[in-house]
Amino acid sequence: MGAWVRCAALTQCAKPLNKPPAMVYNAAGRENRVRAQRDKKTTMPGHLNAANLFDWTQVFGRTAPRVLDVGCGDGRFLIASALANPGRDHVGIEVLAPLVAKGRGEAERLQLANLRFFVGDAVQWLSECAGDASIDEIHAYHPQPYYDPSVVELGMLSAAFFERAWRVLRPGGILVLQTDSRPYGKHLLAAARKHFDPVIQPGPWPDAPHGRTHREEVAQRKKLEILRVVAARRETPLDVALPPPYFAAGRPGLPTVVSALRRRRKVDRSS
Ligand SMILES: C[S@@+](CC[C@H](N)C(=O)[O-])C[C@H]1O[C@@H](n2cnc3c(N)ncnc32)[C@H](O)[C@@H]1O
Repeated sequence: MGAWVRCAALTQCAKPLNKPPAMVYNAAGRENRVRAQRDKKTTMPGHLNAANLFDWTQVFGRTAPRVLDVGCGDGRFLIASALANPGRDHVGIEVLAPLVAKGRGEAERLQLANLRFFVGDAVQWLSECAGDASIDEIHAYHPQPYYDPSVVELGMLSAAFFERAWRVLRPGGILVLQTDSRPYGKHLLAAARKHFDPVIQPGPWPDAPHGRTHREEVAQRKKLEILRVVAARRETPLDVALPPPYFAAGRPGLPTVVSALRRRRKVDRSS
C-alpha cells in the first residue's frame, strides 16, 4: 500500500494542512484566514502513486472506467452518474470549497463508494496529478467564460487545457462540454477541434431532461440556448491553429472564483 500524500494542485502546496501557506495568511488578513480554515476542513488528500500521479486504483480499490468533472460545482452531474453507473469511478474537482462540501455531503449520504470530490484547481490537477491516458471521460459543464483580459490566464478551458485533456484521456475517450453562452460556445468548438471531434447534442440529455447540473437547470428555466457537445478524442491532433484565448469585454467578473484560483496558483494580486 502506498502512503497517503497530498497532491499539490489540490492543497496549494505540499505543506501539512494544519499550516496553510504563508501567503494566504499574510496577504489579506482575517477573511483569507477564515477561507484557509474552511479549505483545510474540506480539502481531501490526493492519493499519489510512485510517479506522483493521482492513483485511481488505490483511491477506489479497483480498476474501472474513470469519469472526471472539472469545475463540478455542487457535483449534481457526478452524483447522478455515480448512482446510475456503479461500475464507473468518478472524481470531481472544484475550486470553491463550500460547493465541494455540499457534493461530498450528498455523496456520503447516498454512500457512493465510486465518487470522490476534491477542492482544487482542475487545470493544475490535470497538468500535475493526472497521468497520461488515465481517464475515460472528462466533463466540463458551464465553465466560466472570462470577460476581463487581465484574468484570461485563469480561464479553465484554455488551449493548454485541450492539449492536456487529449493527453490524459485514453484512446476512445470523450470530452463533454456545455455552455449557455453562444459566443463562448463558438469559441469552445473551435478550440476543441484540433484534439477532438466535437458533435453537438441535439436537445437536452436523455438521462437528465431537466438538466444534468445546477447551472443547466438555471439556464433551462431562463430559456437560454444551451450548447451541449460530446467530443471524441482524436487519435492524432489536426494540424490546425488554435483560436486566441476568449474574453468579451463589458461583462461583470467573477471575484470569488478569481480570488480562489489566484490563491491556488499564487498569482500576485497586485498584477
Ligand atoms: C458556472 S459554474 C458551473 C458549475 C457546474 N459545472 C454546473 O454546471 O452547475 C463554474 C464552476 O467552475 C469552477 N471553476 C472555475 N475554474 C476552475 C478551476 N480552474 N478549477 C476548478 N474549478 C473551477 C467555479 O468555481 C464554478 O463552480
